Amino acid sequence: MTEPWRRDDDEERRGASGPVRVRVPAKVNLHLGVGPLRRDGYHELNTVYHAISIYDELTARRGDTLTLTMEGEGTGELALDDSNLVIRAAHALAGYTGAAPHARLHLRKQIPLAGGLAGGSADAAATLVACDALWGTGLSRDELAGIAADLGSDVPFLIHGGTALGTGRGEAISPVLARATSWHWVVAIADGGLSTPQAYRELDRLRETGAAGPALGSTDALLAALRQRDPRVLALALGNDLQDAALSMRPSLAATLKAGEAAGALAGIVSGSGPTCVFLTADAADAERVAAELEAAGVCREARTAHGPVHGARVT
Ligand code: C5P
Repeated sequence: MTEPWRRDDDEERRGASGPVRVRVPAKVNLHLGVGPLRRDGYHELNTVYHAISIYDELTARRGDTLTLTMEGEGTGELALDDSNLVIRAAHALAGYTGAAPHARLHLRKQIPLAGGLAGGSADAAATLVACDALWGTGLSRDELAGIAADLGSDVPFLIHGGTALGTGRGEAISPVLARATSWHWVVAIADGGLSTPQAYRELDRLRETGAAGPALGSTDALLAALRQRDPRVLALALGNDLQDAALSMRPSLAATLKAGEAAGALAGIVSGSGPTCVFLTADAADAERVAAELEAAGVCREARTAHGPVHGARVT
């Protein structure tokens, strides 16, 4: 009897003989509505995820053990041991499929660490897709997303990509069927990261003391704005409940947000738990101008342009 995860295709069953290279995007939350703290330590979310064209790349080669090397953002800072989400993802896939967890993995990182862009989650998603191809385990995207949910709340979205609604703790994904519109972003990367659990705790504290702004609630307005395909309309609908927490932990982000809007961005928000700020612009040329002005103003480490939505983790 063939195992249920295997496809008929011979090559897939054997796995790849050469290296498998997977590209995975960063995410921003166009709407991040944070509900109450649940008994399991997570917050109930109402979010709209959006994948943008800043990528990490994971290469998987055959090996006799499981090893991880890296270059780029966070090299020397990011632990490459069993605590790394890449290694955890490889073990999770091996456990699910019965494949031997053997691979030589190499990560090229462009997504900053602890930046609110889900870089670690992206790498976990890339690992699932790369090892599935390398080992010939042939899982469907939905099966991979099921394993992904145990690795982190954002990981299933990064398997799918595009623009999608996230509910539960963020792991329950349903795609948003948007017509082919490309949105233009500027991504202002800060020096140093912010801790996601700390940002959620800070939001709870601000809410207890009455210092947090009103909760965003439903995603309806954002979804309606996406359908209108006008960046000026979308700009008015962007929102992030974690922004107050990120600003409280890193007050200098207020100057970054102000500088982006002064430079001509339609709107700026903190991405996820921060400290990265993202700005929506009218078009690609505006994005270039805003990025140059943000860098000149010295309000971020680096400003990059990006567009979205883009695909989730994919073999290139
Ligand atoms: O799911 P993930 O491991 O990425 O979450 C990291 C941390 O962020 C959690 O341990 C929790 O403290 C916080 N979190 C939360 N509510 C969510 C998602 C994450 O409180 N919906």
